Amino acid sequence: MCGIVGYIGKNQAAPFLLEGLSKLEYRGYDSAGIAVYDGSHIRVEKSVGRLASLRDKIEGDMPQGAVGIGHTRWATHGRPSDRNAHPHTDCSGDFVIVHNGIIENYLSLKEELIAKGHEFQSETDTEVVAHLMEEVYNGDFEAAVREVLGRIEGSYALVFLSRKDPDRIICTKQDNPLVIGLGDGENFIASDIPAIIARTRRTYILNDGEFAVVKKDSVWVTNREGEPVTKKVFEVNWNAEAAEKGGYEHFMLKEIHEQPKAVRDTVSPRLSKDGKSIIMNELNWNREFLDSIKKIFIVACGTAYNAGLVGKYYIEKLARVPVEIDIASEFRYRDPIIDEDTLTIVLSQSGETSDTLAALKESKRQGAKTLAITNVVGSSIAREADQVIYTWAGPEIAVASTKAYTTQLIIMFMLSLYMSGIRGTQSQERISELLEALKKVPAQVSETLEDVEPIKTFAKQYGFNEDVFYIGRSLDYDVSLEGALKLKEISYIHAEAYAAGELKHGTLALIIEGVPVIALATQKNVYEKTLSNIKEVKARDAVVIGIAAEGDNELEKYVDHVIKVPETDELLIPVLTVVPLQLLAYYAAITRGCDVDKPRNLAKSVTVE
Ligand code: G6P
Repeated sequence: MCGIVGYIGKNQAAPFLLEGLSKLEYRGYDSAGIAVYDGSHIRVEKSVGRLASLRDKIEGDMPQGAVGIGHTRWATHGRPSDRNAHPHTDCSGDFVIVHNGIIENYLSLKEELIAKGHEFQSETDTEVVAHLMEEVYNGDFEAAVREVLGRIEGSYALVFLSRKDPDRIICTKQDNPLVIGLGDGENFIASDIPAIIARTRRTYILNDGEFAVVKKDSVWVTNREGEPVTKKVFEVNWNAEAAEKGGYEHFMLKEIHEQPKAVRDTVSPRLSKDGKSIIMNELNWNREFLDSIKKIFIVACGTAYNAGLVGKYYIEKLARVPVEIDIASEFRYRDPIIDEDTLTIVLSQSGETSDTLAALKESKRQGAKTLAITNVVGSSIAREADQVIYTWAGPEIAVASTKAYTTQLIIMFMLSLYMSGIRGTQSQERISELLEALKKVPAQVSETLEDVEPIKTFAKQYGFNEDVFYIGRSLDYDVSLEGALKLKEISYIHAEAYAAGELKHGTLALIIEGVPVIALATQKNVYEKTLSNIKEVKARDAVVIGIAAEGDNELEKYVDHVIKVPETDELLIPVLTVVPLQLLAYYAAITRGCDVDKPRNLAKSVTVE
């Protein structure tokens, strides 16, 4: 979603604002803008398009001044345009605002403000906040912001600049992230840590309802009621380089190649020293706790939902607890049956997805126990859930999620094994076998990355097809869904995944000569049945790329090409089979000249409904 930055201090603001926004561009990139106080006025510069357009516009005439705010937008209310780009101002230009989120009651506020003579420049919901400031300001900047917050409904991270009080920036948040970076004689504001990490590692992470008055030498935080809040400094321990491309052409490719490390970092701290059991210090569950759970919900969006499908399979197979899985935007409105015997597990890379956060809150409200699996420490979802397990994947910047998915699979697998250990649902031998297999996975992920040439060739050969189908059964079907999602997200090829056994109930009608079908066949109990489905599509002259485990010498007899992944337990093989699918999507997007890291219409973190 939108990215926010702010600066107040001893140096020029604009260079930091542009640098910070460039690190946040993955949050939204349909327009960008900055506002800087120049000693008498606030100069606002904005431009539709990528940040580069804004840079070009102000090159040679940078706004001068040591206090400013900036924004990179992902449109919700109002199409991408110069006028709809943030920052937004009131009629006088005295109040300047940037916002991430949605002001739900903006239409009624707008009508009221128009009736009072305010003139609006944009179609955004945000602009009402600036005009409201003008309306209620009575000489006290903070009091005016508090009054405005009392009038607006919805979700927001909001940053306010006032020409009348230029020695401070005020910011606040509700359901959207906001971080303050603590410098020496200067302070920074951002919606995410990559924007400030090059300047400082010392941060305050704002909680919902908190209100910060940021000056160059101080940060004063209060709660909704205006009472002071003592914030703990959160030291960022990952380096700036981790948030950069590190020599790869795209973040996505870098992140695909980071998977061996991400998987290792996620596994190792949770294996006992002798490697014979799982340690989940985050949980410390016992038999009594697990016996009290009658049903588990897994709730997530996008790629995290696809990882949840695999998670459902793991928990049911290994720990034998019934699991329902839901897309977060459906769950929150479908009146699910939740009670104290329910455990809701939310999966979210960013920890900020609005629907997932809402589903979590709804579960809590109805008395469920909650567990978050997320990649971002201190994220909204991490803070809201009763318990948290972190995937140690490191920052994921590319919109198309890769290493977050594989580490989510690993956590779901380890969690299921941990639960089965407590519940006694698997024999010690089976647990040892699975742990042995798990230890080999990081190296096996590396192996899958060794020979990408055949994948590049397939991408060139089939990258201009308009439709691609993915088929598989059981866990292979779950991975197919992720493979298809990757392809459509970044290459814009129409890609659909089908449970192979379901093909003949409709989809087979779409299989004609030359249509590429990616067929996953790694699950033993349904292997023969998958082969039959492959024969069905071959009989319609589809071109089939099969994905199989090393020892499989059968599949190649029935398909046009085979990609093999190292042999492992069939429960863990999704962590390997997804890798060639990620690469195929990546190279297909390259073949088609797509902007891999910034796919059209998509955003990394969807913090609005
Ligand atoms: C967006 C991203 C996807 C991601 C989904 C859920 O749509 O583009 O890559 O899977 O949100 O995000 P989360 O941060 O909750 O995992």
